[in-house]
Amino acid sequence: MLVDGPSERPALCFLLLAVAMSFFGSALSIDETRAHLLLKEKMMRLGGRLVLNTKEELANERLMTLKIAEMKEAMRTLIFPPSMHFFQAKHLIERSQVFNILRMMPKGAALHLHDIGIVTMDWLVRNVTYRPHCHICFTPRGIMQFRFAHPTPRPSEKCSKWILLEDYRKRVQNVTEFDDRVNPVSC
Ligand SMILES: *[C@@H]1O[C@H](CO)[C@@H](O)[C@H](O)[C@H]1NC(C)=O
Ligand SMILES: *[C@@H]1O[C@H](CO)[C@@H](O)[C@H](O)[C@H]1NC(C)=O
Repeated sequence: MLVDGPSERPALCFLLLAVAMSFFGSALSIDETRAHLLLKEKMMRLGGRLVLNTKEELANERLMTLKIAEMKEAMRTLIFPPSMHFFQAKHLIERSQVFNILRMMPKGAALHLHDIGIVTMDWLVRNVTYRPHCHICFTPRGIMQFRFAHPTPRPSEKCSKWILLEDYRKRVQNVTEFDDRVNPVSC
């Protein structure tokens, strides 16, 4: 493309001036610019352009109120479950009102998880299930369930009886064979 230098000059100067003015203009209200930028970024997130209906607004408001209350409590007590090892935080997470609402949502509100984010099944079976307090139970359809708990969880309709895996392994004839068969559903 050919550009005719001199005749373009005034236009270029005008453009520079406009840019400079907008820069100064935004520098004067940096908070506004920042807020605008943050809002723009927020709208680019997943669901950013989703408009909630009245009921959803209300539900969101309540959930946020609970969340903020839990965060304030964490700041006061300095007990913040996300900063802890899961095994230490588990009983605190289970007490969280926010968590108990989330777990009622479809897929526990975890809509997009990658299975490569977890360890191999083999390691889970041959290492993790050998740790203390791992329990096993069988559903009415014979599916194995696993749970770390102390004390032993109470039986539920989904699981007849929780047995400490350490004790259970002592009773099986061939542990290697048993481990090969194990297909953890949840731990
Ligand atoms: C499980 O893995 C940890 C970390 O690598 C190791 O310290 C531990 O001894 C392993 N336990 C078993 C039963 O293999
Ligand atoms: C236990 O089972 C494994 C795998 O099926 C097999 O290789 C092994 O020989 C068995 N051990 C005994 C003592 O039967």
